[in-house]
Amino acid sequence: EGNMIPSLVTLDSSIPFLREGYSFISSRCDKLGTDAFRTRIAGRQVICMRGAEAAALLYTSGQFTRQGALPPNTLRLLQDKGSVQMLDDGHHRHRKAMFMDLMSEDSVSRLKDIFEGAWLDRAQEWQEPVILHDEVRLILTRAACQWAGVPVSDRGAETLARELSRMIDKAASLGPGNWWAQLRRNRTEKWATELVERIRSGTVKTPAGCPASQIAGHRDVDGDLLTAKVAAVELINLLRPTVAVGRFIVFAALALAEYPRWRSKIVSSGPDELEAFAQEVRRFYPFFPAVGGVAREEAVWRDNRLPAGTWVLFDLYGTNRDGRVWADPHAFTPDRFRNQEITPHALVPQGAGDAGSTHRCPGERITLELVKAAALLLSTTDCHVPVQDLGISLRRIPALPGSGFVLMPRAPLR
Ligand code: HEM
Repeated sequence: EGNMIPSLVTLDSSIPFLREGYSFISSRCDKLGTDAFRTRIAGRQVICMRGAEAAALLYTSGQFTRQGALPPNTLRLLQDKGSVQMLDDGHHRHRKAMFMDLMSEDSVSRLKDIFEGAWLDRAQEWQEPVILHDEVRLILTRAACQWAGVPVSDRGAETLARELSRMIDKAASLGPGNWWAQLRRNRTEKWATELVERIRSGTVKTPAGCPASQIAGHRDVDGDLLTAKVAAVELINLLRPTVAVGRFIVFAALALAEYPRWRSKIVSSGPDELEAFAQEVRRFYPFFPAVGGVAREEAVWRDNRLPAGTWVLFDLYGTNRDGRVWADPHAFTPDRFRNQEITPHALVPQGAGDAGSTHRCPGERITLELVKAAALLLSTTDCHVPVQDLGISLRRIPALPGSGFVLMPRAPLR
């Protein structure tokens, strides 16, 4: 009975979750001496879980679906019906293979080159203090569009950057902010749907084999084209999270400001140091707090039967800081990645398991390469970081330093 899943005394955890944010699950697990507990969120029974074993259950067992696993408002902003995340089994693997194809080494390095060019272009305009988060989102939007083969004007890129950012900013909020973002999402979707239709009809010419035309031309398991709407959702599924990498880039800038020896270290040391730095940024800083899953059949957690329909929330943030896996988990220590093997269920900022066959994020290489490129650019740029609110509130999902990270270019930039 030592493995029984305890229940919280509180009837409903919606308010405590919103109030505490990232540490909600792990602080309760710590207090109860458990890796799983039962509670209610929005009136619905849920089991909150953390740790590598829970990661394996939610991702690798194949017993959990994402259908019905997120509050509907969040779903509309982040994924949507018909998207890869909502598929299971053969349909999922087939669609996922399309995403994995877009993440080849060549494709990722092309994106990285475009991103560096877009950064240097924009940085020439930095004459006075800038908010890095705003700048980098615009740079990433331009780069993602060029990489994907999506034509946008300068003005269009600014609007799109704002729309994609809002979907991320407001995903965890309720009320007017979320409604506003929903409205914008509808506009973005309409734009993307028209784009897919025009690519298909040939009225928009895209470079052969570019991600946008691959998505527009993708056929499902039965050999049918995706509806234009679903193809549009998947195109947004490529652009939105690429722009979201801007949060990790701001965290990388913060890490470089707080641990300045890493600036010279990544400039003068080899690629392993840079990779370790980017991995630690992903492990250490808060981004996705948790992911949900619903059991499709009876599943077993230690000695507990979880009947079909059981709703589970898996704690990404707490798992990345699990002291059983990570020594001194609350310290920023990139060197840990030079000595420790990364297993598929322990480092989970972007999900767990094998990307091709589970819901693990297909965009981890993109994320790592963009964070690395930005860290190098930041370390070689002479910029001053003025006094500002660099604090990160764990109550605000998604998290960011209060100021958005203000940078002041010091020397005229090339
Ligand atoms: C899935 C996080 C970047 C595309 C996921 C999941 C997480 C995640 C936690 C798993 C969701 C689940 O288990 O249900 C992140 C974070 C990123 C990031 C924190 C950093 C910015 C990207 C990038 C792309 C991308 C750059 C594509 C260019 C996707 C897609 C899925 C996904 C399509 C659904 C996969 C599936 O259901 O099989 N992401 N991601 N993400 N991500 Fe990312």
